Amino acid sequence: MNHPKWVKHKELIKWVEETAALTKPDNIEWVDGSQEENDRLCQQLVDGGTFIKLNEQKRPGSYAAFSDPSDVARVEDRTYICSRRKSDAGPTNNWIDPNEMKNTLGKLYDGCMKGRTMYVIPFSMGPIGSPISHIGVEITDSAYVVVNMRIMTRMGKKVLDVLGSEGEFVKCLHSVGAPLEKGQKDVPWPCNKEKYIVHFPEERSIMSFGSGYGGNALLGKKCFALRIASTMARDEGWLAEHMLILGVESPEKEKTYVAAAFPSACGKTNFAMLIPPKEMEGWKVSTIGDDIAWIKKDKEGNMRAINPEAGWFGVAPGTNDSSNPNAMASIEKNSIFTNCALTEDGDVWWEGKTKEPPANLTTWQGEKFDPNSGKPAAHPNARFTAPASQCPSIDPKWEDPEGVPIKAFIFGGRRSTAVPLVYQSVNWNFGVYMAATMGSEMTAAAAGTIGKVRRDPFAMLPFMGYHMGDYFNHWLQIGRELPNPPRIFGVNWFRTDENGKFIWPGFGENMRVLKWIVQRVRGEAFALESPLGWMPCHKDLDWRGLENFTEEEFHDLMTVDREVWKEELLGHEELFSKLYDRLPKEFLFMRELLRSSLWRSPKRWGMEPERF
Ligand code: OXD
Ligand code: MN
Repeated sequence: MNHPKWVKHKELIKWVEETAALTKPDNIEWVDGSQEENDRLCQQLVDGGTFIKLNEQKRPGSYAAFSDPSDVARVEDRTYICSRRKSDAGPTNNWIDPNEMKNTLGKLYDGCMKGRTMYVIPFSMGPIGSPISHIGVEITDSAYVVVNMRIMTRMGKKVLDVLGSEGEFVKCLHSVGAPLEKGQKDVPWPCNKEKYIVHFPEERSIMSFGSGYGGNALLGKKCFALRIASTMARDEGWLAEHMLILGVESPEKEKTYVAAAFPSACGKTNFAMLIPPKEMEGWKVSTIGDDIAWIKKDKEGNMRAINPEAGWFGVAPGTNDSSNPNAMASIEKNSIFTNCALTEDGDVWWEGKTKEPPANLTTWQGEKFDPNSGKPAAHPNARFTAPASQCPSIDPKWEDPEGVPIKAFIFGGRRSTAVPLVYQSVNWNFGVYMAATMGSEMTAAAAGTIGKVRRDPFAMLPFMGYHMGDYFNHWLQIGRELPNPPRIFGVNWFRTDENGKFIWPGFGENMRVLKWIVQRVRGEAFALESPLGWMPCHKDLDWRGLENFTEEEFHDLMTVDREVWKEELLGHEELFSKLYDRLPKEFLFMRELLRSSLWRSPKRWGMEPERF
């Protein structure tokens, strides 16, 4: 079998040959990453009905795609961590014996690429050649995946030049699982009812079958950069996290980088691209990443982070010029829109893009949109794929191979009660405890009961490649090895009043919280001791431009209620008993410490003692 001259890696060639022998594609294409190749594939997707070219004047270089209605999201119940031992996957992951799984998948992959082209995509997660980056190769039978991977990763020939003939890479095999018999016409979105998203952590390989959608198919993202990378990070002493990375510049031009973990559907992309209120003159936020951070210790003991991705794969609904102008600018051109609605003039639309839907929309399912039908025009999980380089707030160091020094970790879920707007952990270990016990109320987008608190440790529940208890131990160990570890903070933008209304305005106003965090890191801000850690008083936040937000409302956001925390601690206990075999035993003592500090404080701890 022929491969281009620039492919020199024997093990890679062998793997491609073996995979082709199994999956039996009509052709093999080694993806070089060039513009010509991309243009050709996009045209091919247009010709095949997968892509609709958007209006070149309104949205240059951009396309819309519509998935099969059965293939619209990550499939957590079909996601497996197939470590050799079940106990290593832990109780939060699906597990099947790796040999048994390979047997099952072997049958499914046999001939699964018939009638299709097999693409081989070499890609780098992180700037090519950075000591923090790692290389993968994805084999896929989907041209849609190729053109999305070109936005989401650095890919093509230049990656193989760095990999050389011996370098290590993660094997990522993907098939939509829809072979074509001779003469059989293809459908716009081929996929298979049966789906498997499988990880082999010891082998550092991934096998995905049956889905063409986002995280199931773009294997660099959740599969590699989180599930496989988390096991690499455990073995090698670094961190692979579900975190955005941003830089904060003060009026004095001092730059502080922070990383923040929020569960899915908590506004990570908005926070990563935040625009501060204009009254907070001189404060600026710049973006390094919106979803994933890889963080390694440097010789000086700093935690240095890169964004392993090169694009945004963001949820479209709710994104607009006021919620996230930077995301809106990022998607002006050269972007792919999946499951958005189409306007009559060849542009895209989604719920929340404008207050009123434009007339004559076509829904993501190709129907004429009826605003009274109760059905949305765009799928709630509709996505844009856009180059990070097009983001106006992109940080000048976003491709720095050395990464940026992280000074604070921020954790936050969606909590209508219990968790205050912001607090700082008293130390690393307690911060790890708070991140480990983080919970978030489920939204419609997540499977399960709406409003119920789901424990989502470090926002990693769907993305952990090994036993969650071992992961907590790994975080504790990282802290032990750092002379001056980053400070750890908890935030909650989602607290509601007795009528269920959000108290905090959020979005750009979160800058007020971020400023306090950065100032705490720099030793420049005051804090009060609370049962949960350090908290700002009203006077410690910058209120310029938000003077009508009352001190009383602020106190409502910051209250710590013992009765509510009784429930909260039971939730911690439930998680701990699930993970007990590998739980860091200091967590049990930390829970007691937390309990006693809550019980030795006023029943409703607040900043105005007379209120309680
Ligand atoms: C995502 C997620 O799509 O976390 O980033 O679900
Ligand atoms: Mn995510």
